[in-house]
Amino acid sequence: MSQYNTPMSDPLLHYRAEFPILSRTNYMISNSLGAMPRGVYDALHAYADTWATRGVRAWQERWWMLSLDVGNEIGSLMNAPANSISVHQNVTTCQAVVASCFDFSGKRNKIVYDDMNFPSVMYFWEAQQRNSARVHMVKTDDGITVPTERLLDAIDERTLLVPVSHVIFRSAYIQDAKAIIDKAHKVGAHVVLDTFQSLGTVPVDVESLNVDFACGGVLKWLCGGPGVAYLYVRPDLGQKLEPKFTGWFAHQDSMAFETGPIRYTDPPFRFMNGTTHIPSLEACRPGLKIIREVGVERIREKSKRQTARLIELADQHGWRVNTPRDAERRGGTVSIDMPDSEQACRELLARDVIVDWRPKAGVRFSPHFYNTDEEVEAAIVAVEEILRERRVVV
Ligand SMILES: Cc1ncc(COP(=O)(O)O)c(C=O)c1O
Repeated sequence: MSQYNTPMSDPLLHYRAEFPILSRTNYMISNSLGAMPRGVYDALHAYADTWATRGVRAWQERWWMLSLDVGNEIGSLMNAPANSISVHQNVTTCQAVVASCFDFSGKRNKIVYDDMNFPSVMYFWEAQQRNSARVHMVKTDDGITVPTERLLDAIDERTLLVPVSHVIFRSAYIQDAKAIIDKAHKVGAHVVLDTFQSLGTVPVDVESLNVDFACGGVLKWLCGGPGVAYLYVRPDLGQKLEPKFTGWFAHQDSMAFETGPIRYTDPPFRFMNGTTHIPSLEACRPGLKIIREVGVERIREKSKRQTARLIELADQHGWRVNTPRDAERRGGTVSIDMPDSEQACRELLARDVIVDWRPKAGVRFSPHFYNTDEEVEAAIVAVEEILRERRVVV
């Protein structure tokens, strides 16, 4: 066992005690839902206490500014300036906020993305064609990567927005975000970078990328649970843009209850709309705190090692790997399409090896900072056993 990481050799394993599910399962699914930190019990209990004892005074005392604080906590993980991140319920809503800042009736109305985008994001932009937007979708050649040159060529003077994923959910391919942003800026377009599958496992620096918008959610690699998404708007744009999808939280003087058109306040509230999702905001903080403490650099280093090992093991069995082999282009997941992978996934779940399966990807294995090397090996041993047993049965 000495070849494996231990709390002595891998200080990140000390955090295992913070995540109850790790003592019960081989939890290898942080690309979908990160493990719940036990601090969430206290956070939600405190939320209920506040509601129970302070009642409506809680808005003034804590809840109104909670979205600002949580936005800044998320922002500190991506080098975002203070108050540049608004919080929302999901990434699809973030797309809607961004779309509502623009006008698609003019000549510059082209939306460029690739077919490896997350489907919900595609569905949203496809639907905007009814709102005069034109969609140009660049296709993948291999089901793993996005042809960067073709994407860059599609971004032209007619392009308004480029909503793309930083890390592809199916294959964990890391897009060349900088090249995409530079090309978009050269022709006067804006990039909406979906960092759902990167933030918390791959370094993201919105300032050095000079990205216009970045969005994502906290429930995967940030261990923040469902219900909180974030939208970064570059500060110079944040002062200018006027979202049409708006509401009283975006008003300069919400409590004046003015009638007539909105007078926008400053970011981040400027990009928000109605009453915020307080329980989810409270629940996401313990996860964010741990990720900040652990640090994305350490998470990334470990992730590269464990994902490399998964690829090595898959290769030994001759299983198809639908994830980049170059660690610099690979996020936190390894998608492995072993024979009859959908059924294999079901059987892995029955054995408490928690993974998922996606069409055109296979079984997605996503170790995080809290996983041991033994768990990585054990997940693959479980696949071996499943395939061996099935062959016997057949
Ligand atoms: C890259 C990416 N974007 C978006 C989503 C989800 O979008 P939403 O928050 O709208 O459900 C996911 C996964 O759930 C994802 O992997």
